[in-house]
Amino acid sequence: MKLSGRRMLLPLAMIACALLVWGCVESGVGMTGVQTLNKPAPEPEAQNSTEETAATAEKVVESTEEQEKENAVQEPQPALTSQEMAAVEDPYALDLKPLSTPECGRCHFSVFTDIKEEGGMHQLDCTFCHEEFHTYKPGKDWAEVVPACNTCHGAAHGESYMECLTCHENAHAPVASMIGLSKLEPDCAKCHEPQGQELVQNPSAHTDLSCSSCHHSQHGNIPDCIECHAQPHVAFEQNSGCVGCHPVHSPTNIEYGQEVANNVCAGCHQSVNTKLANSQKKHGTLSCVYCHEQNHGYVPACQDCHGKPHSDALLSRFNACTDCHGEPHALALPGQ
Ligand code: HEC
Ligand code: HEC
Ligand code: HEC
Ligand code: HEC
Ligand code: HEC
Ligand code: HEC
Ligand code: HEC
Ligand code: HEC
Ligand code: HEC
Ligand code: HEC
Ligand code: HEC
Ligand code: HEC
Repeated sequence: MKLSGRRMLLPLAMIACALLVWGCVESGVGMTGVQTLNKPAPEPEAQNSTEETAATAEKVVESTEEQEKENAVQEPQPALTSQEMAAVEDPYALDLKPLSTPECGRCHFSVFTDIKEEGGMHQLDCTFCHEEFHTYKPGKDWAEVVPACNTCHGAAHGESYMECLTCHENAHAPVASMIGLSKLEPDCAKCHEPQGQELVQNPSAHTDLSCSSCHHSQHGNIPDCIECHAQPHVAFEQNSGCVGCHPVHSPTNIEYGQEVANNVCAGCHQSVNTKLANSQKKHGTLSCVYCHEQNHGYVPACQDCHGKPHSDALLSRFNACTDCHGEPHALALPGQ
């Protein structure tokens, strides 16, 4: 039965072919239409009588005409390769390619979607991580079936944090699935030891705050000072303008450079500033931080800059330079 069906294939194809050419000529379509012949021939079993054959041939003509109209607007379908043609007869003629990431994704749709939408740097091919898969059997340890984080990352945060999935809850979206701040809070200062130490060793009002009251909303967030200090004594532009004087984890360790203008100090030391500005003496041309350098509250000695301007005999009769010269912000020059 099969054999005879096969033998019928050649004459049938010839009839179809002849009808097709005739159809093309009739409809005035160019000979490019023969491309449809590249489609695999219909299964012979389906055509076992001449009536059916004729009917089929007619259908071929009709559908070919329609096909030609479509083809006039659409790109022609690419022809099957000879290997694919052969595979219709013998599937084992194909050389199979390994499953691609989209192919895995068709079955593992939710995994694929997680990686696509939130995978971050884990947007890698599935088989980059899953060198082996579909090896699970009941009784087998799950850890042997899936890749271990530390094969690629080692002990990312040290030996105390080897249970990766307790924080990175989804292997396929390791940052997006991070547990909430309240759960991380007990460990902030363990992973960020320098900051934790700085807060403890320099007691300030900031030491009494929790890390995540400042670093709120999500891990890694940096707050603006102005979120809490609504009316700072210096106009707020950005944090760097404040942390130059107040390192945020030790804000009372106030250090500053030589660039700070007198009006910044004047915000709190108005009377000193006014005196200095009104002074006609040479100190009036100096900046506050030229003398009060580096640390807030640092007070220099006159001799640091002037050495010994007068004889020991003269100086021994007075307690201090200021006895004759008055205070440094409003110098007096005796005799002038
Ligand atoms: C960066 C490495 C990595 C990539 C890329 C990756 N996986 Fe995974 N996958 C893992 C790890 C690690 C586990 C184990 C998680 C666990 O133990 O819960 C896992 C678990 C799984 C599981 C079983 C648990 C579950 O979530 O259903 C499936 C299925 C899976 N992966 C499929 C995929 C597919 C499909 C892709 C590609 C679309 C992919 N994986 C890409 C690392 C990866
Ligand atoms: C035809 C559907 C199908 C395709 C394609 C497929 N899987 Fe699976 N996979 C399954 C089924 C079903 C399971 C078992 C049930 C489950 O865990 O979802 C499974 C389980 C898994 C598991 C967990 C258990 C184990 O034994 O490994 C991983 C990992 C996995 N697949 C990875 C992949 C990767 C990677 C690809 C692509 C290279 C892939 N799968 C392609 C259907 C598929
Ligand atoms: C097969 C190797 C492999 C495995 C297994 C693996 N990763 Fe990764 N992971 C990578 C690569 C590659 C990157 C990209 C960055 C890099 O090169 O370090 C990455 C990046 C990350 C990042 C940063 C992601 C980002 O978007 O910034 C985290 C977090 C991470 N991995 C956690 C994990 C965790 C947790 C596991 C286990 C559940 C795991 N990884 C398993 C290869 C791997
Ligand atoms: C106590 C919670 C916790 C545990 C446990 C944990 N992580 Fe992390 N991990 C974090 C946090 C928080 C980040 C910072 C994420 C970010 O950038 O927002 C991070 C970042 C990472 C990164 C990003 C690269 C980097 O250092 O900047 C990798 C990779 C990573 N973790 C891998 C791992 C692996 C592998 C394990 C297990 C061996 C693990 N993590 C266990 C909390 C944890
Ligand atoms: C398991 C370790 C781990 C824990 C726990 C952890 N972090 Fe992190 N954190 C990291 C890693 C890794 C990074 C990324 C480092 C990088 O990008 O240089 C990071 C980055 C940060 C940054 C951003 C640093 C920058 O330079 O932008 C801040 C802020 C931060 N963490 C605060 C916190 C706070 C607050 C907590 C507690 C709620 C916390 N972290 C808990 C590991 C951790
Ligand atoms: C009063 C608010 C506040 C508190 C409390 C606070 N931080 Fe910060 N933190 C900041 C600000 C603001 C920055 C940015 C500083 C800058 O721009 O130089 C920062 C920066 C960081 C950084 C980035 C690296 C660095 O030092 O600049 C890490 C990590 C960090 N903080 C961790 C912590 C940890 C851990 C705690 C708790 C032990 C904590 N912080 C408490 C406000 C705070
Ligand atoms: C989440 C809120 C918050 C943020 C953000 C914050 N602070 Fe504070 N800060 C406080 C609180 C609360 C106090 C104690 C009450 C007060 O002085 O307002 C304080 C006190 C201070 C003090 C006085 C410290 C003492 O012990 O007397 C300084 C200086 C200071 N903050 C500077 C800064 C600077 C600079 C920034 C930004 C880099 C900043 N703060 C960000 C909440 C915050
Ligand atoms: C030139 C250095 C300098 C700069 C810049 C600076 N501060 Fe200050 N800040 C000080 C000094 C000095 C004090 C007084 C400390 C004391 O009371 O001993 C102070 C005190 C504070 C206090 C304590 C409460 C108060 O008002 O007395 C807060 C809060 C504060 N600063 C916030 C800020 C913020 C926010 C910024 C940025 C917008 C900022 N500071 C910029 C030097 C500076
Ligand atoms: C936010 C207000 C504030 C600002 C801004 C400020 N100071 Fe002060 N300053 C104070 C307060 C309050 C004191 C007294 C308490 C103390 O000793 O900390 C003080 C004390 C001093 C003292 C005297 C220390 C002593 O031992 O008598 C000097 C010097 C000083 N400030 C210089 C400066 C200079 C220079 C600047 C500008 C770079 C400046 N201050 C900015 C608030 C401020
Ligand atoms: C030429 C150097 C010099 C300059 C410029 C200077 N100071 Fe002073 N300042 C001193 C010396 C020296 C003392 C200590 C005086 C004493 O021992 O009686 C002092 C004392 C102070 C004190 C504490 C005593 C007091 O008078 O309240 C404050 C506050 C102060 N200076 C703020 C300022 C500010 C603000 C500016 C800028 C507007 C400034 N100084 C500019 C040298 C200087
Ligand atoms: C940080 C350095 C510094 C300190 C501290 C300092 N001075 Fe001066 N002083 C100067 C400078 C600079 C001049 C100007 C010199 C010049 O232009 O020749 C000056 C000028 C003077 C003059 C001459 C004023 C004039 O108009 O001719 C007197 C007097 C004087 N200082 C006294 C003092 C006394 C008193 C103290 C201590 C209370 C003091 N200085 C602290 C730097 C300093
Ligand atoms: C007995 C009062 C007296 C004492 C104490 C005194 N001075 Fe003078 N100082 C003077 C007189 C007077 C002048 C000269 C004024 C003039 O040239 O018109 C002078 C001048 C100066 C000048 C300016 C010199 C110049 O050539 O421009 C400096 C600087 C100075 N003194 C610093 C000091 C210092 C620093 C001390 C403390 C170590 C000090 N004086 C102590 C009375 C004193």
